[in-house]
Amino acid sequence: MDWGLQNRVARMISPRSHNTVMLAVDHGYFMGPTRRLENARATIAPLLDHADALALTRGVLRTSVPPEARVPIVLRVSGGATVLKEDLSNEATTVSMREAVRLNVSAVALSVFVGAPHEHESLVNLGRLVDEGEEVGMPVMAITAVGKELEKRDQRYLALACRVSAELGAHLVKTYYCDGFDKVVEGCPVPIVVAGGPKLDSDRAALELAHGAIAQGAHGVDMGRNIWQSEHPVPMLEALRAIVHERATVGEALDVLNEAKAAEKAR
Ligand code: 5RP
Repeated sequence: MDWGLQNRVARMISPRSHNTVMLAVDHGYFMGPTRRLENARATIAPLLDHADALALTRGVLRTSVPPEARVPIVLRVSGGATVLKEDLSNEATTVSMREAVRLNVSAVALSVFVGAPHEHESLVNLGRLVDEGEEVGMPVMAITAVGKELEKRDQRYLALACRVSAELGAHLVKTYYCDGFDKVVEGCPVPIVVAGGPKLDSDRAALELAHGAIAQGAHGVDMGRNIWQSEHPVPMLEALRAIVHERATVGEALDVLNEAKAAEKAR
């Protein structure tokens, strides 16, 4: 791996813990103004200093993140479908590599839709993006998207989708947590980060998800709704950091959450 690409990876993934807490705020690219992300700038501002990287689109980057922010950016470069269509897999690359470099981002991210009607196009797009990324030292994160078929998120499917993504050259893969997640990790030769998925019943459930993923070999989270749809987004990020970077137990992470909530209240 070239120095530039390694350097970009090291901006996002802590060289100390080898893990990362990415904050995902890219949902609007196909879901529109998602609950609690209606005003992206307002949602992002208090969280900026607590995330290792921010995953978003160029529109939200330009409008809602101050250019002086030091947080590494993971730029979503795929799109072209919205929730109004049944099939979400009809995506293309919507941002050029030149633009990604110009925006000084640390990685680009693209969804692959294994098993979906546009599986072929999304996988070929990934291969092409990796070629372009290698030319300029830009890491590529593949996102194993399931569209509206959330039930697809099982070990056999995710292991297949992650492995295919890595084989096509992705430097990093974002996927979902599942029963038997260790098998997904075992079959994927590049680091995996996990999404949170739709908001779970409690903060504890989201912390349990993160803890299970880290314990079974994930290199971090790229989580959105379970952070900014929580009543306490900053304390949630702090609790996740304890799990991801300090290998805290769920109980210890809940203590961090409660202490951060108390500190927030006292302010
Ligand atoms: C949207 C995405 C999201 O970034 C990803 O799903 C993570 O967010 P969440 O934790 O809310 O699922 O890829 O397409």
